[in-house]
Amino acid sequence: MMAEAHPHGPVIIILGAPGAGKGTQAKHIAQVLDIPTISTGAIFRQNMADETELGRRAREYMDAGEFVPDTVTNPMITVRLGAPDTRRGYLLDGYPRTLDQAHYLRDFLAKSNSEVDLVIEIVTDEDEVVERLLNRAQQEGRSDDTEPIIRHRMRVYHDQTEPMATYYADQDKLVQVDGMGTVDDVWQRIVEVLVEYHLYTPDNS
Ligand code: AP5
Repeated sequence: MMAEAHPHGPVIIILGAPGAGKGTQAKHIAQVLDIPTISTGAIFRQNMADETELGRRAREYMDAGEFVPDTVTNPMITVRLGAPDTRRGYLLDGYPRTLDQAHYLRDFLAKSNSEVDLVIEIVTDEDEVVERLLNRAQQEGRSDDTEPIIRHRMRVYHDQTEPMATYYADQDKLVQVDGMGTVDDVWQRIVEVLVEYHLYTPDNS
């Protein structure tokens, strides 16, 4: 049975190719809006580190750059979205990633008369993000940050996640943000979007 979600704040999705800067920008957004970030990739990695059953099931897919099956991912997100901290709204990073997941989320939110408010897509150049991830590999050693797996993750993104972006564009919920430049350049562009959507008022004092 699905847990009930009663978000009284915004439900925002951050989208983008591997390495686009979703996690980096999500931290800023969550901080200024005072909402939790829910990252499916981070939850899977934590479970892998803790050697849980969920982590064991996710590992083979993640290490191959494939999506973890919905039979694993959807129940996990359902539990997370039922936690008390989601009442003030939340930012989803890495979920949904497919049209099926987007439909699952829609049905989940509909149970509490809620819906996705805004989808921010960070648009980047593929060679630039591959470079970023190869740099990250040297610093963090993430097991899916080798060049062949990164390229495969990009293909999976183009095949499965980009069509989902169209689904949100058709509902006028998608805003594309240029993800090239420094972290701060991209953040300033996101601030403009949050202001335009009346989600945030910068304190210029
Ligand atoms: P996930 O953890 O979501 O990884 P990803 O989508 O591949 O994205 P990354 O974390 O690699 O990049 P990012 O866009 O967050 O960029 P970041 O800010 O880190 O998913 C991993 C896996 O989990 C999936 O492949 C799948 O197997 C599984 N999974 C997750 N969700 C799932 C779902 N819903 N269904 C099924 N399976 C799922 O930045 C990257 C690097 O660049 C960092 O080093 C950062 O410091 C740097 N950087 C960021 N911005 C800039 C900038 N502007 N200039 C220079 N460097 C920058």
